[in-house]
Amino acid sequence: MNKIIIAIDGYSSCGKSTLAKELAQTLSYAYIDTGAMYRAVTLYIIKHKIDIQDSSQIEDALKQVQIHFKNIEGKNHTFLNHVNVEEEIRKMYVSNQVSNVAAISAVRRFLVKQQQAMGLKKGIVMDGRDIGTVVFPQAELKFFMTASPEVRAKRRFDELRSKNQNITLEEVLHNLQERDRIDTGRADSPLMQANDAIVIDNSNLSKQEQLQKVLDLVQLKIQEPII
Ligand code: C5P
Repeated sequence: MNKIIIAIDGYSSCGKSTLAKELAQTLSYAYIDTGAMYRAVTLYIIKHKIDIQDSSQIEDALKQVQIHFKNIEGKNHTFLNHVNVEEEIRKMYVSNQVSNVAAISAVRRFLVKQQQAMGLKKGIVMDGRDIGTVVFPQAELKFFMTASPEVRAKRRFDELRSKNQNITLEEVLHNLQERDRIDTGRADSPLMQANDAIVIDNSNLSKQEQLQKVLDLVQLKIQEPII
């Protein structure tokens, strides 16, 4: 069967990573969470008190950043300079800064290069904001996911609460709307639907229904002969 690249883009917290993980597991593909990469850079910048307005500080900081992923007991963990930061990068203080960091072109160039290298052998599911438009415009399958802001905020709130993060639903909703605003409005690689992306609105779809819908489309694609 043909190995393909599957790009999943969309708004914050609309279930991209859940779908991408399940898809990768079912197909025995690699899964890359590019949001985790932007979060890891943001964590480094916060911890080292880098001034994001100062391009030379950013360039110097990026030279010190190494990101890799490791599967531990079936779960993907993000490592920053060999330290497991999976839990830390999901905290609100990182979520509140990440979109400002992701709007910096030098940061995007640095990460996009690494993401493109990860897809060289295909057989990959990658989720983010610019995967179908910038990282892999040639991806064989592209999905653009969306759900209502209230549904997304509630899901994210439940997830953060289950991890004992002390937070209100209003704070989560505000963070999602603010990230969407910055992500869609930035000059470099704004979040947008690729012309050839298939839109999935999962406000009223169960995880199982969504996975099945996407798997049916993948099956059709991987059976297509390579011209
Ligand atoms: O996917 P996640 O919500 O963890 O992404 C965190 C942030 O990283 C996004 O709000 C966005 O600002 C940035 N991001 C991006 N491009 C990507 C992935 C994430 O700009 N491909």
